[in-house]
Amino acid sequence: MPGWLKLTHGLFTPAIVVLQQQGVPPWVYLAAFLLTFALGRNAATERVPLYRSSVEAADALASLLPQGCRLLEAGCGDGRLAMLLAARRPDLVICAMENAWGGWLLAKWRWWRAGSPASVSIRCRSFWKEHWGNHDAVYAFLSPEPMPRVWEKFQREGADGSLLVSNTFVVPDVQPDSRIPLGGPLQKALLIWRHPHGTR
Ligand SMILES: C[S@@+](CC[C@H](N)C(=O)[O-])C[C@H]1O[C@@H](n2cnc3c(N)ncnc32)[C@H](O)[C@@H]1O
Repeated sequence: MPGWLKLTHGLFTPAIVVLQQQGVPPWVYLAAFLLTFALGRNAATERVPLYRSSVEAADALASLLPQGCRLLEAGCGDGRLAMLLAARRPDLVICAMENAWGGWLLAKWRWWRAGSPASVSIRCRSFWKEHWGNHDAVYAFLSPEPMPRVWEKFQREGADGSLLVSNTFVVPDVQPDSRIPLGGPLQKALLIWRHPHGTR
């Protein structure tokens, strides 16, 4: 854990004591909890917090996807990546899926502000419930935790020749077919697997 994070954790209990002395009304805590849950519920349920792909990752993804590709963004967060991609590649058909209401609302708002492009749909749904065979590519920027399940679902449902693109997080014991290096300290590479067989 980096030092600043240890400090944040260390300050948590003193902060509670100070806030109790200030007589902060209980609804403030409830509101803070609801806001945290609305944006970050998947940190608890899926061990996937909300953080965003870099512009560099968006550029790399835009250069990689084939013409007219139907892309599933598995966990679209606040929709920034989906809108960056749509601006760079209007030919893509983007299905951006998010099941944390806060992120989904922000994504809808971004989509609306961008003029509600018909090539992008923002859906409030778990990507585990989606059939991945309906898409030519799946983009995931999640965490190490769900990657074995992501791989299993891609193998089981993915269409023949479809792509799985993971920002930085590897599939244990499965080498990607190719990779595009990224320059960030946390976002290191786009890892790309091509599906050898399919369900359709
Ligand atoms: C690290 S963020 C990436 C956001 C966006 N894809 C990007 O690259 O900028 C991962 C997102 O996946 C969402 N997520 C995690 N599990 C999910 C699930 N089962 N269904 C839908 N979204 C999920 C989280 O809520 C979070 O917003």
